[in-house]
Amino acid sequence: MCDDAAMDADADPDSDLTARVLASFAGTPSPRLRELTSLLVKHLHAFVAEARPTEAEWAHAIDFLTRTGQLSDDRRQEFILLSDVLGVSMQVIGINHAASETATASTVFGPFFVEGSPEFANGDDLSGGAPGDPCLVTGHIRSTTGVPLPGARIEVWQADETGHYDVQYADLPTPQGRGHLFAAPDGSYRFWTVRPVAYPIPSDGPVGELLRATARPVMRPAHIHFMVTAPAHRTLTTHVFAAGDPHLGHDAVFGERPSLITPFTHHAPGPTVDRDWYSVDFDLVLDPL
Ligand code: BEZ
Ligand code: FE
Repeated sequence: MCDDAAMDADADPDSDLTARVLASFAGTPSPRLRELTSLLVKHLHAFVAEARPTEAEWAHAIDFLTRTGQLSDDRRQEFILLSDVLGVSMQVIGINHAASETATASTVFGPFFVEGSPEFANGDDLSGGAPGDPCLVTGHIRSTTGVPLPGARIEVWQADETGHYDVQYADLPTPQGRGHLFAAPDGSYRFWTVRPVAYPIPSDGPVGELLRATARPVMRPAHIHFMVTAPAHRTLTTHVFAAGDPHLGHDAVFGERPSLITPFTHHAPGPTVDRDWYSVDFDLVLDPL
């Protein structure tokens, strides 16, 4: 060994550690799993080499991830939230849903979708009594080819005027601000709900600690979630964002897309609705498979 190499080995007795860990995965039968584990080791080791954490910092990181897992269950998904605030959810969406220019843009799924939502007919009210200003949501579902997609299934979920989803209340007997309906024969859809408002993402767990420690905003601009499925088309997961919301431009989870920002029109009380109400028209355009 020349003098320089001897000095390097003394300075870092584990200088070939990364290579040995990578080699330990070399026999992985699945090529994709082999690729994923190799990249994970390579980038994780590079992060540690550059960040040079103290043992106390590393223990803190392990504790943070442990508590993130402990807080996750079928009603609360702190790991999805972590992926969201780190921008990784939007990165994965960008890779997997590079929609054509004419399709509606995709955005984050979020932690508040629930399987088995109630079914509604076009024109029904899916608020379920949620507090908020009435809001009529209309639009058409079509393919990027221009053809309407009658029968497309439209899942909708949103927060009420206090900024909470129904699943965030401990004891609501029935769903609120959540449901599914099917596009009419001409591809149109129509439902009543409550006007969405901006709300803070759940910040009583480790992700909230992270946002506070880094002085980051916790708000999401007002939006309604949609997930649209139609035969022979790519499933679309998206939101309509309310134009004019002051939190636009500072979405805590980077889910905002300019093409999804849409005016919600104010209406004064009248013969059909005896209080202030709103309406929004939002077309949903799906890419063929
Ligand atoms: C939501 O819009 O429901 C949401 C998305 C990501 C994180 C938290 C909430
Ligand atoms: Fe949301």
